[in-house]
Amino acid sequence: MLSIELTTPSPLPLFKKVCLIILKNKKIMNPIYPDLKNKHILITGGSNGIGEALTRSFAAQTKEVTILDQDYNKGLVIAKECEKYNCKVNVYCVDLTDTSALTSTLAQIKKERPVVNVLINNAGYDPRYPLLEMSEQAWNDLFQLNVTHYFITCRELLPDMIDAGGGSIIMTSSHQVWVANPDLIAYNATKAAIIGMVRSLAEAVGKHYIRVNAVAPGWIMTERQLNQWVTPEAKYKTIHEQQSIPIELTTNELVGTYLFLASDSSRAITRQTIVVDAGHAQS
Ligand SMILES: NC(=O)c1ccc[n+]([C@@H]2O[C@H](COP(=O)([O-])OP(=O)(O)OC[C@H]3O[C@@H](n4cnc5c(N)ncnc54)[C@H](O)[C@@H]3O)[C@@H](O)[C@H]2O)c1
Repeated sequence: MLSIELTTPSPLPLFKKVCLIILKNKKIMNPIYPDLKNKHILITGGSNGIGEALTRSFAAQTKEVTILDQDYNKGLVIAKECEKYNCKVNVYCVDLTDTSALTSTLAQIKKERPVVNVLINNAGYDPRYPLLEMSEQAWNDLFQLNVTHYFITCRELLPDMIDAGGGSIIMTSSHQVWVANPDLIAYNATKAAIIGMVRSLAEAVGKHYIRVNAVAPGWIMTERQLNQWVTPEAKYKTIHEQQSIPIELTTNELVGTYLFLASDSSRAITRQTIVVDAGHAQS
C-alpha cells in the first residue's frame, strides 16, 4: 500500500501541465473593430508569413484588402479563402524592388479601387552576412526592398489619404534594431531606417489626421524562417534564455497589434514603434 502511494503521481501536476499546454497553444481571439468595417487596407508582401496572417485577419474585419506581392498564385489562393468573410481581396503581382512597376501598379490601384485608408508596408528580407562581406549591389538591393518600397508606397498613396481626411500607416520594422545580431548589420540598418522614417513622417502628416507607426516583431516562426534559419538550438535559446516570456512567437501573437494600430482605438497613437517580442529586446 505504502509503495503504491509513493510511486503513483498525484494527478494534480499532470492536470496543471495539460492546462498550461492548452493555454499556450490557444488561438488568440482578436477583438472586432467596427470602424475597420468599411476600410480599404493595402498590404505589401501579403501572400506569405506575417503578411499572409495580416491579409487573413484584416479580411475578417473589413470590406476590401489589396495585396502587392510577387507570389501571385499564393495571393489568389488566400483571396479565394477570404471570400467567406465577404471581403474582396485584390491581388497585384509586382516586384516591389522595381520602382517603375510599383509606381504604375499603385496608379492602377488608385484608379480602380477605393482610397487606401490603411497602408501596411511589410515585405522584407533578412539575409545574413559575416561582418560586412556583402557587395554594394547586395546592400543597395536590400535597401530597395526593405526601405525604398516603403517610401514609394507612402509617396504615391499619401495625397489621396490626405484628401480622404485621415488614415493609418503601419510599417514592419524588427526587434533586431535593439537585439543587434552581428550577422544582420545590413538588415538592421534597413529596419532602423524604417523607425526614422516613421517618426518624421508622423510629424509631417499628423495635422492631416494620418497616424504613422511601426511594429517591431521578435523572431516569428513563419514558414520561411522555419525553412531557412530556425534550428532547434537557436529556437530553444531564444524562447527560454532570451525572451522574458517563454512562448513560441507566431503570427498569432502579432496581428492584434496591427489591427489595433489600424483602428480608431489607437487614434492618439502615432510616431511609435511597438516591439512585439515577448520581452527579448529588453533582456
Ligand atoms: N519572421 C520574422 O521573424 C520577422 C521578425 C522581424 C521582422 N520581420 C519582418 O516582417 C516582414 C515580413 O517577414 P516574413 O517573415 O513574413 O517574410 P516572408 O518571406 O514569410 O514573406 C514575405 C512576403 O513578401 C513577398 N516579397 C518579398 N520580396 C518581394 C518583392 N521583391 N516583390 C514582391 N513581393 C516580395 C514574398 O513573396 C512574401 O509573400 C519583413 O519586413 C521582415 O523583415 C520578420
